[in-house]
Amino acid sequence: MKVAVYPGSFDPITKGHLDIIKRGARIFDKVIVAVLINIDKKHLFSIDERVELIKRVTCHIENVEVVSFDGLLVNFLKEREISVILKGIRTVFDFEYELQMATVNKELNSEIETICMMADPQYSHISSSNVKQVAQFGGNIEKFVPNEILKDILDKIKA
Ligand code: PNS
Repeated sequence: MKVAVYPGSFDPITKGHLDIIKRGARIFDKVIVAVLINIDKKHLFSIDERVELIKRVTCHIENVEVVSFDGLLVNFLKEREISVILKGIRTVFDFEYELQMATVNKELNSEIETICMMADPQYSHISSSNVKQVAQFGGNIEKFVPNEILKDILDKIKA
């Protein structure tokens, strides 16, 4: 079975992330969305909330699983006996960042392959950070995030 792990912070999941998950699920037998538990970083949503929001928008895709992980990604992959990391690339800046991470991960475990998928141009400007910023200043984020989680983001920003 060909399994890929799609890791990230997903604070919150965007339409760009969801597009990569859907496309990845067509290529791999299973895509595991792995949400990083990073206690140092200030997140808008807690780890449980981020996982729940991703589950809500992916529940119709049979071969997608959503989990959280802590520590090194390569260790998570080893525990699960998976050797493929799936990532999305929007810009050359993403490429630089992903190339560095893929190289570090390869150095840590030479069995691991990072597969990068080009973002659909309609989503290449979307990031979780700009979703939060636009929402904080009252802008419309409907084009950036799945409809099912729109209210959660607006409520969280207001709270
Ligand atoms: O959505 P993000 O913040 O770009 O995701 C980054 C993520 C979670 C993929 C990356 O930070 C990660 O893999 N963190 C776990 C720690 C780790 O393994 N670091 C070594 C790779 S540089």
